[in-house]
Amino acid sequence: MIKERIEKEFNAQITREFYSAYLYLAMAGYFAQKNLNGFANWMRVQAQEELTHAMKFFDFILERGGKAVLDAIDKPPADWKSPFDAFDAAYKHELFVTENINKLVSIAIEEKDFASHNFLQWFVGEQVEEESSVDDIRQKLKLIGDNGSMIFMLDKELAARVFVNPTANTTE
Ligand code: FEO
Repeated sequence: MIKERIEKEFNAQITREFYSAYLYLAMAGYFAQKNLNGFANWMRVQAQEELTHAMKFFDFILERGGKAVLDAIDKPPADWKSPFDAFDAAYKHELFVTENINKLVSIAIEEKDFASHNFLQWFVGEQVEEESSVDDIRQKLKLIGDNGSMIFMLDKELAARVFVNPTANTTE
């Protein structure tokens, strides 16, 4: 049985993961409107990944005999100043998510909830990847600046990303 405190904190994380999906989908819309369809594709895939993160928490709560309670999702911004600005915001958002995952790990330790602690290790690893992949594109955009042909080339590269469920083949 899941403890009340863990249930509450995990439910809050479901909302944050859904917000992440919402934010990246908003960014996909922003890029598509600018005809940067590769960037839009990358963000769309990112949004899909975030949904799997939310579902992983949802399923875990239920598996432990808890109640999954959905909260309202905040409205994300609709515009950014530039592709760099959007990826910078995405990077900062991932740092925020990592901070929250780390807090959940601390709470699991405080509560001596070893099953939750074990479950969270997947997210600890996933956040390393999430931060790194967003920062990689962010750094490229920083170098590129306003160079339109380089942005076009990066757009082509990002068009190749396909959705692969990151939570597939995990035990939770
Ligand atoms: Fe679900 Fe991008 O962290």
